[in-house]
Amino acid sequence: MQIHAANGYLIDEFLRDGTNHRTDEYGGPVENRVRLLREVVQVVAETVGADRTGVRLSPNGAIQGCNDSDPARLFVAAAEVLQEAGIAYLEMREPGEGGTFGKPDHPPIAPAMRRVFTGPMILNSDYDPAGAAAAMADGKADAIAFGRPYIANPDLPQRVANGVPLAKDVARTWYSQGQEGYVDYPVAA
Ligand SMILES: Cc1cc2nc3c(=O)[nH]c(=O)nc-3n(C[C@H](O)[C@H](O)[C@H](O)COP(=O)(O)O)c2cc1C
Repeated sequence: MQIHAANGYLIDEFLRDGTNHRTDEYGGPVENRVRLLREVVQVVAETVGADRTGVRLSPNGAIQGCNDSDPARLFVAAAEVLQEAGIAYLEMREPGEGGTFGKPDHPPIAPAMRRVFTGPMILNSDYDPAGAAAAMADGKADAIAFGRPYIANPDLPQRVANGVPLAKDVARTWYSQGQEGYVDYPVAA
């Protein structure tokens, strides 16, 4: 089970001081702002097992109006929480400078988090198969997750394995209300 703690959704709103204006034990210092994340992870891990619990974070810049004044400190503290909980993996959407789906406003924080969180780390955003292989060879990540390439390539794993060029997704049909964009991308010949 993956707990969504990224991209300006509820847990992310508690993590970052741009959105968390609480004055109780869930707001204020970093130690308080990671409390909800810790509690949710604990309950889910107790229910399904820590070895079946994953978490998604986005330590990049502002997203959906959610940002933090000291993201390096915050997200390293979050990584400590997840290390303590012994979760199965940490997945992060951390686009690079050329991000086509949101750009960071600071250098990547994943490397500092990786020194604290020693479980499997999965990175995401703007990777192609070659970039993914290079990132893993460099030790930046244990795996890379793909988003948009999956939309346009229903046979993505086979294409990657066989070196078949990838089709490009069409943003216009991301949220179309019919079949278009959902079931009409062909598999490779
Ligand atoms: C149509 C669409 C919808 C998405 N919806 C969500 C979402 O609900 N929650 C989320 O965390 N990320 C969402 N994302 C972001 C993806 O999970 C992923 O992080 C992003 O596409 C970057 O990876 P990519 O470069 O491999 O596509 C969405 C992306 C797309 C294209």
